[in-house]
Amino acid sequence: MQPATIKYQSQAVAKLYFIAALGLFTGQIVFGLSLGLQYVIGDFLFPAIPFNIARMVHTNLLIVWLLFGFMGAAYYMVPEESETELYSPLFAKVLFWVFLAAGAATILGYLLVPYAKLAEMTGNDLLATMGREFLEQPLPTKLGIVVVALGFLFNISMTVLKGRKTAISMVLLMGLWGLALMFLFSFVNPSNLVRDKMYWWFVVHLWVEGTWELIMASLLAFVLVKTTGVDREVIDKWMYMIVAFALITGILGTGHHFYFIGLPGYWHWVGSVFSAMEPIPFFMMTLFAFNMVQRRRREHPNQAAVLWAVGTAVIGFLGAGVWGFIHTLSTVNYYTHGSQVTAAHGHLAFYGAYVLVVLAIISYAMPILRGREANPLRAQRVEMWSFWIMSIGMAVMVLALSGAGILQVWLQRMPTTGAMPFMATQDQLVFFYWVRVAGGVMFLLGLLAYLSSFFIGPAADEESLSLGVSTRLQRA
Ligand code: HEM
Ligand code: HEM
Ligand SMILES: [Fe+2]
Repeated sequence: MQPATIKYQSQAVAKLYFIAALGLFTGQIVFGLSLGLQYVIGDFLFPAIPFNIARMVHTNLLIVWLLFGFMGAAYYMVPEESETELYSPLFAKVLFWVFLAAGAATILGYLLVPYAKLAEMTGNDLLATMGREFLEQPLPTKLGIVVVALGFLFNISMTVLKGRKTAISMVLLMGLWGLALMFLFSFVNPSNLVRDKMYWWFVVHLWVEGTWELIMASLLAFVLVKTTGVDREVIDKWMYMIVAFALITGILGTGHHFYFIGLPGYWHWVGSVFSAMEPIPFFMMTLFAFNMVQRRRREHPNQAAVLWAVGTAVIGFLGAGVWGFIHTLSTVNYYTHGSQVTAAHGHLAFYGAYVLVVLAIISYAMPILRGREANPLRAQRVEMWSFWIMSIGMAVMVLALSGAGILQVWLQRMPTTGAMPFMATQDQLVFFYWVRVAGGVMFLLGLLAYLSSFFIGPAADEESLSLGVSTRLQRA
């Protein structure tokens, strides 16, 4: 492959963030597998790592590594978009170590100290913020996240302010600021359970169905601009439309979480109508990706990055759009709420939209950060295989959970008399839970293949061959 280097030296900090992201991703999947096994072998790893702890580690690692991925993406993209060095590369490095140390300490805290004791030790009695799914972090960690986020946003915003302002960097900034602002609701934890849940969704829903969508759109647009060479005017128009639809549908779409938690009845209408339109921006991302690839002006040597980008656009739509829509109308959600249908959707949506978009930017940027335009063909081939193995593993998991969810609703939720009790129903779902484990093992194998692709060098004859191809392409 042709040698290539980063355009701005400070982009190099992204590498640290990407490596950490991939390490934590691997941890997340290992804990996911142990959870899957605990579903079928009840006392697996008990009492060392009980289900509730492993679950917390699995979901928290997911969020933290995606945040590392978003930050790495921003540090890579913003100098290039703004055509200027990062405001302070040193600060970006310092914050990296702070965030990594805080993250590691938190995970060790979960694993080594009983949760109630951890709450006691970390000042939860001063301001109670712990105990809510995804937001289990002790108070010092939450404050640390705010400090890191503010430092990061300062660094990125100053860089954009002193350089060229593109639609991609503006949308990215909006998304990242929104992400940080919404996180502040994690400090609002009223004792009234209805209000507690409402604020909890302000974080969780307005992240994944609001601010993160903007981040996704800009990462996707960046990778597509670079790999297809399509004019920015075209890409910018798509991005504005996606952002507008994401916000119009996503903000009031929060109502799909307010159906049965004690909020006024009009939310059934507001939530159903607006969230039913939420698939639109995800579908637009699919059209966007295919449209750009069709109009491409060059064959970029990094075809693996194109595959991840198209993959995120398609699977994001399936997970968020299709699997979201199936349980979003209040009349359906009445039966499916909190069932395995929810878990099926949660997995496919997070994987398709956010895992894959982070892997797309890593796949595009990492070779350049390592001094070449694209990985050797052999490495790209392994990367593409890993995309398919992980995605098919995920599909197996999601179909198993969907099957489990449908049977669960049928046995436990639908009957008006003689409904099967919760645990008796779970016994009927064991087959599906084993299939989920099989899908999870496949997913882990795909991930290991992906990691191995970073260590594959060119074949003996490939160097000269690929140079020949790229010179011919340049002449054409
Ligand atoms: C990439 C975007 C999305 C992600 C990452 C995502 C993820 C999740 C997760 C993890 C949950 C479970 C939360 C919990 O209770 O612990 C959830 C719930 C839900 N999601 Fe999404 N989602 C996305 C987009 C959507 C969209 C577009 C729709 C609708 C079209 C939707 C509809 C729902 C509904 C109705 C629930 C509540 C399920 C219940 O009542 O149990 N989601 N989502
Ligand atoms: C990139 C891949 C993955 C992502 C994005 C992911 C995401 C998530 C999310 C968002 C939740 C909370 C879901 C909810 O409450 O609805 C969750 C829970 C869980 N995940 Fe994963 N996960 C992944 C891989 C895996 C793997 C490989 C397994 C293992 C087979 C697994 C097993 C589980 C289990 C058993 C739970 C707990 C579900 C429950 O409480 O009933 N996950 N995961
Ligand atoms: Fe939602």
